[in-house]
Amino acid sequence: MQTISDIAELRALRREWQLKGLRIGFVPTMGNLHLGHLSLVEAAKKDADIVVVSIFVNPMQFGAGEDLDNYPRTLAEDSAQLAELGVDVIFTPTAKGIYPRGLEQQTFVEVPGISHMICGASRPGHFRGVATVVTKLFNMVQPNIAYFGEKDYQQVQVINAMVEDLSMNLDIVSVPTMRHDDGLAMSSRNGYLNEQQRQIAPTLYRVLSDIKQALLDGEQDHNRLIIEGNARLTDVGFKPDYIEIRNAHTLQPAGFAEKKLVILGAAFLGKTRLIDNLPLELP
Ligand code: PAJ
Repeated sequence: MQTISDIAELRALRREWQLKGLRIGFVPTMGNLHLGHLSLVEAAKKDADIVVVSIFVNPMQFGAGEDLDNYPRTLAEDSAQLAELGVDVIFTPTAKGIYPRGLEQQTFVEVPGISHMICGASRPGHFRGVATVVTKLFNMVQPNIAYFGEKDYQQVQVINAMVEDLSMNLDIVSVPTMRHDDGLAMSSRNGYLNEQQRQIAPTLYRVLSDIKQALLDGEQDHNRLIIEGNARLTDVGFKPDYIEIRNAHTLQPAGFAEKKLVILGAAFLGKTRLIDNLPLELP
């Protein structure tokens, strides 16, 4: 396994792979890897000849007052885990390499509509930062397939729309959410939780699961489900940001005739913002 920070060096290697006709799988991350990230790497290992994992804590997708400075950086542990899985290259670009003219001057990619709702409404500029860095990483790695976690459901939809709109020449694969035994979705941000908050955290998953069950049982009053869900979150100590029941593809509010839905939730425990979602298909 090689660790490469230099973009020219990565491109040279990329040319060699291309000459050999090798298929390149790519997993973009911000590091502090857990089993959720590793499930993406395992999926890539199955499909591709070469697996590249990038680790870059992308300043462009963090808002003012968010956790950019405190975001956990654990390159040594991450490298050991990736070596064990047989990853070929860890790409660790610098901020200067990614944003050579500085963030103020950076050309950006923005997917309209979908970037500004739900999480995008709570975190203005977030999906612009994601779409821009992912475009740049795609241009550097030039993968045949790239892997994203369903845990960040809206992110996957933003990337899918971007790839389609900009005719990007690669396939996007989304991988189901990895959870702890108590249902809590694995996330680097779980590390910010104290013991008491960690006990409370799985309630987010339970609330979404109960809404899913109610919908499958034929409940049609989305508003009531959302109000009750938010109340349950508040009761255990969350500060809810949103619960939404949306069209699984467009993320627009779901009408009663729609079958493919996703329930999305975001809520704060102290300063930590947790997100989760459950896709479902009505009979
Ligand atoms: P990061 O939060 O590090 O996540 C990297 C990838 O791992 C994302 O595709 C995310 O959805 C996936 N992932 C995280 N937790 C998961 C879980 N519990 N189960 C399955 N997959 C999970 O998402 C980002 O980084 C950034 O926005 C990035 C795409 C790298 C752009 O900067």
